[in-house]
Order: sequence, then structure tokens, then C-alpha cells
Amino acid sequence: MVVNLAILVSGRGSNMEAILNSIKIGFISNVEPKVVISNRPNVRALDIAKQYNVPAIVIDDGGKKGRDWDYDKRIVQCLQEHDVRPDNGLVCLAGFMRILSKEFVNMYKYRIMNIHPSLLPSFPGLNAQRQALEYGVKITGCTVHFVDEGVDTGPIILQRAVEVRDDDTVDTLAERILKREHEIYPLAVKLFAENRLRIEGRRVIILSS
Ligand code: GAR
Repeated sequence: MVVNLAILVSGRGSNMEAILNSIKIGFISNVEPKVVISNRPNVRALDIAKQYNVPAIVIDDGGKKGRDWDYDKRIVQCLQEHDVRPDNGLVCLAGFMRILSKEFVNMYKYRIMNIHPSLLPSFPGLNAQRQALEYGVKITGCTVHFVDEGVDTGPIILQRAVEVRDDDTVDTLAERILKREHEIYPLAVKLFAENRLRIEGRRVIILSS
């Protein structure tokens, strides 16, 4: 069965592009990108979505960021208008800087993924790369996880480690982590589409093909 994909963005959209490109080149099959939704107008991700011929929609939140089912209802309506439903869809948060309401999460249970630039459960929330650098860890990385009601707490699908170097700045560290993000996010989407993710409590077991 084909998975209907929505990608939610707030800015640059490089993870979104990695996913769309992986579909285009056939690394991911049986996934149809249906819509890209941004909570902010005029961001780069919207231009890239159009280059990939994916409808790019702005649902402006005016900078208001708290959990908000009224706002999320507008997202859900847009998803349904583009045929991304709880029974056929996947929603990828790709630098989407909002926390989802529990109503939205429960409606699309285990069908919403997020990428986060640390090895969760370390350094959840904002500025994960800065948090890692300031804490002094020697290894950090990135995580793709299913979204649950918490902030960056859902079952972990894939992680990659990245070494922290003595001469790293937030920018150099973020750049190396981002390269790994672009590998694991498309891979997680591929595994989902191939029905190879089995959730057992907090654990996500990857079935062999
Ligand atoms: C990525 O590094 C992503 O992991 C991070 O925002 C960046 C978005 O970049 N997400 C979070 O910090 C979520 N808490 P992109 O727009 O180029 O994909």
C-alpha cells in the first residue's frame, strides 16, 4: 500500500529535501509526497517543496508556539484535504518548531515522526547541539523517533552518533550532525513504508526485509 506523506516544516527544509530527493531517486518507494505545510511564511522549505512539485501550504501561527489543538485542527484539516489520513498517511516533522497537541498526536498515533539533533533522551528541546557542546559530552548525534505526547520523548526509530571535537563550535557540530540527519530520516521513512517497524512498548524493532 502506498503511504501518503506530509512534511511539516518551519525553515530551511534540508531534512525535507533529503526525504523528497530519496523518493525522487527511488531509494524510498511506495511513498507519495502529498503536501508540505509550514507554520511560517516565506521560508526556504516552501520554495524547495515547489521545486519538487509538492503543494506547499502556509498555516501561519503568527509566532505563537504553545500546544494548541485549535491550531493543530487546521493542520489536520489540511492533511485530510490532501488525503494524508491516519490509516494511509505519514507525517514527518522536519525542523517543525512547534509542540503538537495530544489530540493531534493521538489521532495520528505512530504515524508522526520527528528528527532531533541529539542522542535522545539527552538534550531534548531547543538548541540541542549547543546543549551538547556546553555540557561537554564527547559523543552526540541525531535521533528519528515517533512523536508521543511529550517533547522529544517518543519511541526511538534510528540514531547516529557524531563525535564532538575540541575545536567544534555550535555551527561546525550542527553541520556534521545534519549530514547524519540526512541519512537516517530518509531511511526511517523507507523502513516505515516497507512496514518494517514493529513497536513493542518503547522499543522499535526493525524487521529484516
Ligand atoms: C535540524 O537540525 C533538526 O534536527 C532540528 O532543526 C533542524 C532543521 O533543519 N530540529 C529540532 O531541533 C527539533 N527539536 P532543516 O529545516 O534544514 O531540516
